[in-house]
Amino acid sequence: STPTLLLLPGDGIGPEVFAEVLKLIDWLARHRGLDVTTRDGLVGGACYDRHGVALTDETLAEAMEADAVLLGAVGGPKYDNVPREVRPEAGLLRLRKEMDLFANLRPALTFKALLDASTLKPEVIEGLDILIVRELTGGVYFGRPRGMQTFEGEERCVDTQAYSQAEVERVARVAFDLAAKRGHKVHSVEKANVMETGAFWRRVVSGLHAANPEFSAIELQHMYADNCAMQLVRNPKQFDVIVTDNLFGDLLSDCAAMLTGSLGMLPSASLGAPDASGRRRAMYEPVHGSAPDIAGQGKANPLAMLLSFGMALRYSLDRGADADLLDKAVENVLAAGIRTGDIAGPGATVVSTSGMGDAVLAE
Ligand code: NAI
Ligand code: MG
Repeated sequence: STPTLLLLPGDGIGPEVFAEVLKLIDWLARHRGLDVTTRDGLVGGACYDRHGVALTDETLAEAMEADAVLLGAVGGPKYDNVPREVRPEAGLLRLRKEMDLFANLRPALTFKALLDASTLKPEVIEGLDILIVRELTGGVYFGRPRGMQTFEGEERCVDTQAYSQAEVERVARVAFDLAAKRGHKVHSVEKANVMETGAFWRRVVSGLHAANPEFSAIELQHMYADNCAMQLVRNPKQFDVIVTDNLFGDLLSDCAAMLTGSLGMLPSASLGAPDASGRRRAMYEPVHGSAPDIAGQGKANPLAMLLSFGMALRYSLDRGADADLLDKAVENVLAAGIRTGDIAGPGATVVSTSGMGDAVLAE
């Protein structure tokens, strides 16, 4: 049956960059036979303004049923004094939690045309293509106990890192599955030298790898997180897929992302467990926020949003060839010197949000 896409543009530049995705969906439908049913919904401040909450139960139900959710961005200064439980971010967190999106995929790849603008050595980052798989629903951000406690007569504050075998296995499985379609290499990253959960993580990932003949063609390496941070900057091309916990993944994915350029270029995907038919719940969104400083001015770079949709084409809609075509179009547009302000260097042709979307379609 026709796959459904739930469209949640959100706030600030969210709707602006989303408009370019809508043009792309329309183009793919007309020229490449893309057949999807789209539904529109509200999230974040846009939803709060209408309903007094950042996500309604109806929209959540649609997200649970959809083959993929596309989200722009949420938040903005207008909502600074709104109670925490209905703040724009609460809508996003509820979606992630209810959809059980435990695997956060953050690609870091170099666009050849942007190499000159990089402050990093071109030979270090040219041809870079890393995928970081971050565990998103467990670990120290969620572990209990947390907060203040009394220990040996003294007040102190704790956070708890906890992982079950199932939690580690399911995210490692995503990493192995993805590596099988890419460079056949997985680095599993933790601090097994100083953390019990690190040693456990390493044991579980090794066990999963050894127990599954379908993963035998994938090279598994273990690496300490501090070394990984260093290697990402020193020699990032050694990596294909990196799988790591919530905390290390937060840091390392931001670090890897900045090897390759601007916030306006960075897509992400978050995946849940497969159901009986093998379909995974999934949400696709740019890494950037609602950028209130440039909202409403047609300055936002839509490429992060477009590339996020590209990930949806690849991972949820089985349209890998369309995703490849999009990647190629983006590379060509950049090679032609067409830029939004955030990635403009000397001599660039600076275009608006819609100008960039049009240029991608033309390519
Ligand atoms: P931000 O990502 O919105 O902006 C940081 C800087 O990058 C700004 O100078 C902005 O103009 C620029 N920028 C971001 N995306 C861009 C794009 N596509 N093209 C060109 N320039 C771009 O992060 P900030 O300023 O920390 O947060 C602003 C609001 O967004 C806050 O309310 C925050 O809570 C929310 N936020 C939402 C996220 C989400 O929806 N997933 C993620 C991060 C922040
Ligand atoms: Mg972060």
